[in-house]
Amino acid sequence: MTENNKSATLNLNGESYELPIFSPTVGPDVIDIRKLYAAAGVFTYDPGFTSTASCDSTITYIDGEKGELLHRGYPIDQLAGKSHFLEVCYLLLYGVLPTAEDLENFETTITRHTMVHEQMINFFRGFRRDAHPMAIIVGVVGAMSAFYHDSTDINDPRQREVASHRLIAKMPTIAAMAYKYTIGQPFVYPRNDLDYASNFLRMCFAVPCEEYEVNPILSRAMDRIFTLHADHEQNASTSTVRLASSSGANPFACIAAGIACLWGPAHGGANQACLEMLKEIGTVDRIPEFIDRAKDKDDPFRLMGFGHRVYKNFDPRATVMKQSADEVLDLLGVENNPLLQVAKELERVALSDPYFAEKKLFPNVDFYSGIILEAMGFPTSMFTPIFALSRTVGWISQWKEMIGDPQNKIGRPRQLYLGETQRDYIDIENR
Ligand code: CMC
Repeated sequence: MTENNKSATLNLNGESYELPIFSPTVGPDVIDIRKLYAAAGVFTYDPGFTSTASCDSTITYIDGEKGELLHRGYPIDQLAGKSHFLEVCYLLLYGVLPTAEDLENFETTITRHTMVHEQMINFFRGFRRDAHPMAIIVGVVGAMSAFYHDSTDINDPRQREVASHRLIAKMPTIAAMAYKYTIGQPFVYPRNDLDYASNFLRMCFAVPCEEYEVNPILSRAMDRIFTLHADHEQNASTSTVRLASSSGANPFACIAAGIACLWGPAHGGANQACLEMLKEIGTVDRIPEFIDRAKDKDDPFRLMGFGHRVYKNFDPRATVMKQSADEVLDLLGVENNPLLQVAKELERVALSDPYFAEKKLFPNVDFYSGIILEAMGFPTSMFTPIFALSRTVGWISQWKEMIGDPQNKIGRPRQLYLGETQRDYIDIENR
C-alpha cells in the first residue's frame, strides 16, 4: 500500500492534523486515520461501517453505482456465463485463472477431500430432527476444529492451504447431511466421479434404494448459484470471519462464526425469508397490500430480496439469477410457476413506485434464487445453507489474505460511550 501525494486536513480544537490519503486501483480514495487517536485523542464514529474501509484487499471489487462486481478483476456475468464454480474458487484463492493442468489438480484435490470423518455423524445425531439446517451446520463446522488437528496451525502456510481445501470440499457434504438428517433419510456419501454441483445434488436427493441421475440442467443452474454467491468483499459475514480470525483463532471456528452471521434475515437468511414472503403474498392482486406495508414507517415489514448496502442501481448477480430462473423453470416445464409470476409483478410494481426509486431499492441476489432452488426441490430451510456453502470460498480467501498480511492486527473497534460515569455501589437494602 503506497500513499499518494494527497492528504486531508482535520481542524480540531484549534489544531490541524494532516491525514494521509490512499488511492485504490479503482474506487474511492480512503483517508488513513490509524494514527488519529494517538495524535488528536479522538475516535471516528461509524456504526455499521457505512464509510469505513476495514482492510485492504485484492480479491473482490464492487461499484455500487454502476452495479459492477469483479472477482480478481473479472466481471461476475462473465464468470457466471463462461466459468464454473471450482474455477472461480481457484481464482478467488490464488488470484489468477488456472491453467488446464492447475485446474485439474485443484479439482482432484477438492474431490479427494469431500468425505467427512465418520465420527462426525455423531454430531449430527445429537441434534433434534426439527433443527434448522443452519443451526446444525454452524455446530458441525465449528466441530471440525476437533477433527482436523493437522490443519489448524494458522502460522503454517501448508496447514492453511489444507484447511482451505477441506472447507471448500466438505461444506456441500455437511450441508447435504444436515438436510438428510432433518428429513430422516440416510446420509449419502460423496462420489468422486461427479462434479462439485452434481455431487451436492446427489447427496441431497439420492436415496439408497434407487439410482439417482443428476439432471445436467439443474447441475449447471446449481453451479451458477454457487458462483454468484462465491464472494462479496467485506460484507457482514466476511467481516465476522476476519474479526474472529484476527485473534489467531482456528480456521474452522472462524468459518463457523461467518456462518452464524450469514444466517440473519438481513444477510444470507433473506433468500428463505424472500420465498416465504412470495408465498405469503400468493397472488398478484395482493401485491399492493405488501407494497404499502413495506412503505409504512410503523410496520417493521420489509420487502425481502430488495435493497442493498452497496448496490444502488442494480445487483449484477440478480440480473444473472433472473435469467437463470427463467431458463430453469422453462426447461423444467414450469414456466407458469405462480411464485415467479408474483416475483416478476412485485419487481415491476416496486420499481415503478417512487418510494423504492428514491431509496434506490432494487432486487438483490436473493430475490430470484429461492424460486430456482424451490423448483429444484429444496425446502426453504436449505436456501441459506446453500448460500453458506457457496460463500465459504470467499470467507477462506479473505481469511488467507488477512493471515498472510504482515500488517494483520487483532480487530478492536472503539466506541462512543453514553453510559453512566463512575458511581458508588449501593448495598441491596438501600436500593
Ligand atoms: N423494503 C422496504 N424498505 C427498505 C428496504 C426493503 N427491503 N430496505 C431498505 N429500506 C428502507 C429503510 O426502511 C430505510 O428507510 P428510511 O431511510 O426512511 O429509514 C432506507 O430504505 C435505507 O435502509 P437501511 O436499512 O438504512 O439500509 P442498509 O444499507 O442498512 O440495509 C439491507 C441494507 C440489505 C439490510 C436492507 O435493504 C434490507 O433489510 N433488505 C431486505 C433484506 C435483504 O434482502 N437482504 C439481502 C441482502 S443481499 C444478500 C446478502 O448480502 O446477504
